Amino acid sequence: MLGSTLLAVSRNPLARKAVTALPPTRRVVDRFVAGEATADAVATVERLTRSGLMVTIDHLGEEVRDTDAAVTTTKAYVELLDALAPLGLGHRAEVSVKLSAVGQALDDSMALEHAREICEAALGAGATVTLDMEDHTTVDSTLGILRDLRADFSDVGVAIQAYLFRSEADCHDLRDSRVRLVKGAYREPASVAHQKKNDVDLAYVRCLKVLMAGTGHPMVATHDDRLISIAELLADRHERARDTYEYQMLYGIRTDKQQALANSGALVRVYVPYGDDWYGYFMRRLAERPANVAFFLRSLGGK
Ligand code: FDA
Repeated sequence: MLGSTLLAVSRNPLARKAVTALPPTRRVVDRFVAGEATADAVATVERLTRSGLMVTIDHLGEEVRDTDAAVTTTKAYVELLDALAPLGLGHRAEVSVKLSAVGQALDDSMALEHAREICEAALGAGATVTLDMEDHTTVDSTLGILRDLRADFSDVGVAIQAYLFRSEADCHDLRDSRVRLVKGAYREPASVAHQKKNDVDLAYVRCLKVLMAGTGHPMVATHDDRLISIAELLADRHERARDTYEYQMLYGIRTDKQQALANSGALVRVYVPYGDDWYGYFMRRLAERPANVAFFLRSLGGK
């Protein structure tokens, strides 16, 4: 209930203005966001990769409604990838792209062109690209753009949201690809998505079974211990080497677990958001966990 209220609020411009104007918000945001500038992102990448973790970096922003903003986001990614190139991280570095931040709401072909520019820059840096998945109205467009990109950049990945009824079939279609499996973070209607947590978890396992049985590279993106254990069992059952799949978690969430998994020899990639347009991302993190709201409210009280 609190979660869906927060997801509704996250799309309200007045609420955005109010929350972003609260001075202590910044401290709370810093728990989930690596900073505002390219240099902040690069410093975080260096720190995480030194401790054996991999990264996927998200330049914050979504749902842009004008061409200039889409171009600015694209340039920010290219600048970031150029800054990462000298670090020689190869596939340990990746960028995550929300197509709505590079023009999807305006025109699919604009989003494709911008995503292509980002893929070119990633290729130059030896890095990979994964397309984030946004609300259900964008899934067909995102998968269409993914198909076009993969014709030239075969290792582009995509996020698939287990809560959508369609996702098991999408996993079948993508079983030879890099797929990041997530539960799903948007408020979706009952006509397209499971509403109960248990149903989402069961759907996640069904999708995971398809991906682990396939020939692609499953990216198990969850902080849920039960699902991580099931992923490990399925990987064993399919005799997968540990470098043929990976775990992914968000920056600032369950950092001990991230490190423990990496120390055990698993591939672990941390999703690192940076930039000043943090509002939508931050609200989704609050919506996922009431304890984060309590933390936020305490910080407003000065604690
Ligand atoms: P769940 O929410 O059940 O949490 C399991 C446990 O993890 C909790 O009990 C708690 O301990 C911890 N936890 C989870 N969320 C927390 C939080 N915010 N703060 C503190 N602790 C928390 N979604 C989407 O729609 N499109 C996308 O492209 C992506 N991309 C993406 C990338 C990566 C790397 C991750 C990890 C997640 C996403 N997501 C996403 C978000 C995803 O859909 C989902 O909302 C979150 O991962 C939370 O779900 P969990 O699977 O972690 O389980």
